[in-house]
Amino acid sequence: MYKKIFSILFISICLNHSQVKAQEKLYQEKYRPQYHFSPKINWTNDPNGLVYVKGVYHLFYQFNPFENTWGHMTWGHATSKDLIHWQHQPIAIPELKDTMIFSGTCIYDQNNSTGLGTKQKPPMVAIYTGHIENVKQAQHLAYSVDDGKTWTKYNKNPILDLGKKDFRDPKVFWFAPKKYWVMCVNLPLEHQVQFYSSKNLLEWKFLSDFGPLGDTTGVWECPDLVQIPVLNSKEKKWLLQVSMSEKMQYFMGEFDGEKFMLDPHQNSILRPDAGPDYYAGISYNQLPANHLPVTIAWANNWSYARKIPTSPWKGAMSLPRNSWAQNINGQWQLIQKPMASLNSLRKKIAFQKAAVELKDQTIALSAIGILSDVYECDFEITSTSTEKTGISVLNDDFRGVEIGYEPQLKKIFINRSKTNASFDPSFSDIRYFTAPLNTNSDKIKFRVFVDNSIVEVFVNDGESVFTVQAFPVHSDKNIKILNTSSPGSVKNLQIYPLQSIW
Ligand code: FRU
Repeated sequence: MYKKIFSILFISICLNHSQVKAQEKLYQEKYRPQYHFSPKINWTNDPNGLVYVKGVYHLFYQFNPFENTWGHMTWGHATSKDLIHWQHQPIAIPELKDTMIFSGTCIYDQNNSTGLGTKQKPPMVAIYTGHIENVKQAQHLAYSVDDGKTWTKYNKNPILDLGKKDFRDPKVFWFAPKKYWVMCVNLPLEHQVQFYSSKNLLEWKFLSDFGPLGDTTGVWECPDLVQIPVLNSKEKKWLLQVSMSEKMQYFMGEFDGEKFMLDPHQNSILRPDAGPDYYAGISYNQLPANHLPVTIAWANNWSYARKIPTSPWKGAMSLPRNSWAQNINGQWQLIQKPMASLNSLRKKIAFQKAAVELKDQTIALSAIGILSDVYECDFEITSTSTEKTGISVLNDDFRGVEIGYEPQLKKIFINRSKTNASFDPSFSDIRYFTAPLNTNSDKIKFRVFVDNSIVEVFVNDGESVFTVQAFPVHSDKNIKILNTSSPGSVKNLQIYPLQSIW
């Protein structure tokens, strides 16, 4: 064990040295997102342990300290005061001998119910899956009495063990009406979420399970249960999300502290994101009472995640999103908007054409003072259009990511089929994404966030969202307007350059 700890320390010292040298280049690499979180170097996948403690948002994440590919899973750590600007922190929880630190949750044990801190210094508690390759997965605990800086693994781990090879990704939250902690955790192969309760975070009692239901074509991972407000109402709904191989799905219903009850009107598979690059999303724990719920996901896809052409890092997080429930066509559905504070990254408006119908033209970003593919582009399309209408971003010789409305199908679409897939053929297999248009209004509103290799699209104030990666070989640095005829062209186009957070 000491050998491993020593080698981790040695490697991180060496990295620090080479990082200092390369400092001015870090975060300026081709494809590096400028306002999405990514680690300085090496591989990341799921966000872990999202928790708000004493004015600080913590983001832990699956991290490989040694290489730019999956392995040696460890919890990396970053903190933020606004969920937009991040400070990197030292590694939080390194792997232990043959036990990797898989995904999990973090809570502030304010009343020291674990007894692992003191009344004066209550502990932060991380509960994660200890993974022994091909042997076992069980739930483990680590704690910190210095606000997340250093962590100690509990000496009686594991705290929840079914003796199974697949049993992972705990999410724990405080359920006030019953005055206990609730854990949801997945039985991936059974396509089930299990619920447990505990008074002290150490001993857990089985409550119930949910599933199989909805999409069961892959293993279930990373469950998340959170209460969210109903849009424009005082009512609340419970949102249960699970990740499944490459996609996420959600269930809306009620939770009484013991059982999750699916809303009887949910009769189809619902997805929080209609794009290919949104996975393992979880919500923040212990936000202040008046704070909107916030979710962050991994903006990537297991099919090609190991091959994306980025270095010296691989993997980034989605933008933080606020969520609401809304009853649309008789079903409770998820509404998601990017955190309003993201607007603070807008520099002044670079381009605005209100009421002018734009058709079949190219806007050179440099001509409007934007020097990189780091911007927000908002526009509208009228749903009376008769042909495919929209814009294309991150263009190069291969062509870009097309975003728009397909009137024949009455669907919003994203098409990245013509983008560079030279790094992995499976990237071009996953290429065309649609979401139904729910609104009856004849205006379809788009907010498009372009960040070098990530595009996040919020349609009609969050009725549907798409997260898509693309890797142009030599970006043309322009936006193309796709349609050629009226009516139904692109209107009210506004483009804002966004500041880098790094
Ligand atoms: C989801 C996942 C989790 C697991 C982690 C390992 O992306 O497979 O189920 O805990 O990644 O890195």
